Amino acid sequence: MAKLGLFASLTVIIAALGFATMGEAGADGTACVTTKFKTDMVKQACAKGGQKEAKDVMKAFNKDKKIKSCNQCHSKLAPNYELKADGLAQFQKLGGK
Ligand code: HEC
Repeated sequence: MAKLGLFASLTVIIAALGFATMGEAGADGTACVTTKFKTDMVKQACAKGGQKEAKDVMKAFNKDKKIKSCNQCHSKLAPNYELKADGLAQFQKLGGK
């Protein structure tokens, strides 16, 4: 009986390892929710590294433009980053592309 239990847990471990390796083969992180991009900056970042990269370039942009809050343009943040009505206009006014 004890032997059977050991065998069963080994199977679970092997299966888990298999899944973990499979997961790593895919892209890391989540893709952006936006599919029709209005800005080159975010479009390129999403293509390169998904939402994580988009977040990074947004952070850099904010720092550059001395913006203190993401909520200046976004009504909500993760996971969907909904924009305020004037979010895009603000971004372009600041020189974003
Ligand atoms: C000046 C306005 C502005 C500010 C401030 C701003 N964003 Fe954005 N953000 C935008 C716009 C506009 C888009 C949409 C880009 C597009 O459609 O190409 C966007 C898109 C994003 C996306 C992509 C979402 C997706 O999955 O499609 C992320 C992530 C994001 N912003 C994170 C942030 C974070 C984090 C901050 C704060 C550090 C921030 N933003 C501050 C204007 C802004």
